[in-house]
Amino acid sequence: MIIHPQIQGCVARNCHPMGCRAAVLQQIEQVRAAGPFNGPKRVLVLGASSGFGLASRIALTFGAGADTLGVSFERGPSDKGLGSAGWYNNIWFRQAAEQAGRIAVNLIGDAFSDTMRQQAIDVIRQQLGQVDLVVYSLASGVRVMPDGTQVRSVLKTTGQPLQGWGLDLEHDALVQQSLVPATPEEIRDTVTVMGGEDWQRWMQALQQADCLAPGARTVAYSYIGPESTYPLYRDGTIGYAKEHLHATAETINLQLAGIGGHAWVSVCKALVTKASVFIPVLPVYLGLLMGVMKERGVHEGCIEQMQRLFADKMYGPRGVVADGNRLIRMDDHELEPAVQAAVSALWPKVTPENFRTLGDFAGLRQEFMQLNGFELPGVDYGAPVNVASLTELTP
Ligand code: NAI
Repeated sequence: MIIHPQIQGCVARNCHPMGCRAAVLQQIEQVRAAGPFNGPKRVLVLGASSGFGLASRIALTFGAGADTLGVSFERGPSDKGLGSAGWYNNIWFRQAAEQAGRIAVNLIGDAFSDTMRQQAIDVIRQQLGQVDLVVYSLASGVRVMPDGTQVRSVLKTTGQPLQGWGLDLEHDALVQQSLVPATPEEIRDTVTVMGGEDWQRWMQALQQADCLAPGARTVAYSYIGPESTYPLYRDGTIGYAKEHLHATAETINLQLAGIGGHAWVSVCKALVTKASVFIPVLPVYLGLLMGVMKERGVHEGCIEQMQRLFADKMYGPRGVVADGNRLIRMDDHELEPAVQAAVSALWPKVTPENFRTLGDFAGLRQEFMQLNGFELPGVDYGAPVNVASLTELTP
């Protein structure tokens, strides 16, 4: 079977498993090239199959020699298709980690459920004993509550409606997008899905089960961004959820005091991931930002951000580099005044006709394709993929 990309709007409907392998191996090489660091040895990653979670797992395994348990929600091969990119990322990561002599266990299912918490506790007890670090990197539009009800997050503004250019990756075009203000109930639901409550539940369950090592740490990922994006992110529904996540770091930190543990939020830079290209209007900022940061030589992808987070800002010689609100600022380069001034100068000039000549929309599109295993160097996309052998692989 020869696989061609199927993109709908800003969502990839398929992936190229061999390209996913090349992408995972490329990230591993980048971490190896950056050199080892003295980090945690046993790690639980929630949301391990793509974006920041996968990059965290790769940075910790191949940079610090960590054994890991990864939890993610992914689709395997079925009569509906070959499965999701994250499914294959889990497989290729585990294979490479095992080849390097590391333990790598994947659990596939709903991380919001108590059943998954129990499964993770069982695996930790059997294979890792305890964990030294828990990475919370879930991005989801829906959370099934313990009573079975489904709560959905929305990507909306609060206050004034907002209009702007959005990116249509399917047609490589700009489209007008409007964000309407959310209702109080929608804000509350988004906080329920993307806020800190589930993170806290995980930490409570792990602590009660004696799965956290003395001095264990936990980190969750957030975004704040520059003022120009506040109406669509920080002051939007997702911003409310992130505020809740930030406050939860304080709560968890107190909760972990008994074992000498600590909780932080890492405020990351805006990056191309499955989740971020889906946020209305934000991808235009992202395309401009990529262009400006590349030009100034300070561009980072997921793997560079996560390698720097662990090697320099969490486990480096300076200890944890955080502000008084328990925030580790990985958005330092993004928020440099000169970077923001350059982006702000370009943004009002963007039109559907000229956007390809401003910023780095070609780079954004390529990164998006690569998330799904397409457009990677060294992969023969004309060669048929052996579907039967892929269906035999398990995460
Ligand atoms: P992603 O979509 O690439 O990864 C999300 C992960 O969550 C995947 O591994 C997926 O399988 C897992 N997941 C989703 N629902 C699940 C469920 N019910 N059970 C188990 N696993 C589930 O997203 P990305 O962008 O890496 O986001 C991770 C975190 O980083 C989010 O909190 C996001 O807000 C944050 N962040 C993202 C930024 C960006 O620019 N992409 C910037 C700063 C923070």
